[in-house]
Amino acid sequence: MAHAITAEQERVYGSLLLGRSVLLLGAAGTGKSEFIRHARKHLPGRVAVVAPTGMAAMNVGVGAVTIHSFFQIPPTASGYFQPELFAVKSRVAGLLKNVDYLIVDEVSMVRPDLFDLMESLARRARGKSEFFGGICLLLVGDFHQLPPVIRSEEREPFRANYGFPNAYFFDAKCLRNGELAVVRLTKVFRQRSEKFLDLLDRISRGDVDGALLRELNGRVLGTNSEPQGALIITPYREAAERKNEEELDALPGIVHEYVGQRSGTFLPVNGEELPSPERLLLKEGAAVLFTCNGPKGEWVNGSGGTVKRLARDHIVVQLTARRRTLAVGQHQWSHILPKGDEYVETGTYRQFPLRLGYALTVHRTQGKTCDEIILQRDRRFFAHGQLYVALSRARTIETVHLTQPLSPTDALTDRRVVDYYAGLAGAS
Ligand SMILES: Nc1ncnc2c1ncn2[C@@H]1O[C@H](COP(=O)(O)OP(=O)(O)O)[C@@H](O)[C@H]1O
Ligand SMILES: [Mg+2]
Repeated sequence: MAHAITAEQERVYGSLLLGRSVLLLGAAGTGKSEFIRHARKHLPGRVAVVAPTGMAAMNVGVGAVTIHSFFQIPPTASGYFQPELFAVKSRVAGLLKNVDYLIVDEVSMVRPDLFDLMESLARRARGKSEFFGGICLLLVGDFHQLPPVIRSEEREPFRANYGFPNAYFFDAKCLRNGELAVVRLTKVFRQRSEKFLDLLDRISRGDVDGALLRELNGRVLGTNSEPQGALIITPYREAAERKNEEELDALPGIVHEYVGQRSGTFLPVNGEELPSPERLLLKEGAAVLFTCNGPKGEWVNGSGGTVKRLARDHIVVQLTARRRTLAVGQHQWSHILPKGDEYVETGTYRQFPLRLGYALTVHRTQGKTCDEIILQRDRRFFAHGQLYVALSRARTIETVHLTQPLSPTDALTDRRVVDYYAGLAGAS
């Protein structure tokens, strides 16, 4: 759904029109992804939209692809990128020469080595020594949300090259030469209640006291009162998978299996997951989540529903939000890459646009809006920004539930992020 853009967004758009690159920051729900969709549609010139993960790319939509697939970056054995080891492949050079604007959503999840590599590839492909070879950038993110994934065995090269084992996008070396205007969006759309917004803001900054915890812990579920249809959010992938399997097992009836079909090159490198499971196991009565936007807006990526009937060529689903029942056919995803002025398809994937919908990891929920959530707190939240991302998926505190009380250490923040924002405030 398109929204009118705000005055602060209008100013960002104005900068982009003048060819000035912008780093657009703003809390969860300030309409950053929505603004990308607007900019993508209206900017004059050729626009490419990328994101660090497949989920984030799907979330922003409009032909967005992962950074890895756009820049054709193969995985490396060490997992750490050194730009000088990467040649500019001719196909990537063609893409980069032809693009006027590069938009990156969820840039806060981009590692600095990857960003330095992107910059180096763009500069070399375009044969111009300026930052990104002169491509105008719109970089969008929120450093209070999830940080880039740096595995423990990868920390050493980050310490050696960037000075910190927990390196961020803003540590990228190319930013020293790059001119980025930093703009912060302030109006949050996803939540309306001032009280809930204040709570989320404090969680994001790690400013947690007894009163705030009591307020949140008032949302702990009593025994046998699990709200029907609420999404369980957990930091742990195995926990999410286990919960989905358990719930499916517990349902009566027989399991139907739907096998997805790939052709050509679909979803490449880097352990990216498919948009819908390749082996989709369902029963009638199962809770599901949609994994694409409905062709006529009947549902969006992330909408919830319940399986009513399983047929070979369609699945009848009742939407949770609107109580409407509809027949869902297979969906075809295209893996597309811009080539010259147009996008070309490198491969396709056909599957029903559904996955089991009882539980998701926090990582998968970043960018989404959820109707009702249960934060599973049998083990603690372990990463910076995790609790903030999970809580900020809800529109109101009444739609948030907890399995167990939270403790102050669940609201982890990284000193480096706090300092980064403090530096910005001082500069402006
Ligand atoms: N300009 C706007 N006016 C009204 N609602 C908006 C606007 N921009 C976004 N929204 C709504 O706010 C919610 C969050 O928007 P989104 O773009 O996903 O935020 P972000 O990417 O900053 O987390 C969505 O439900 C979206 O439809
Ligand atoms: Mg977003």
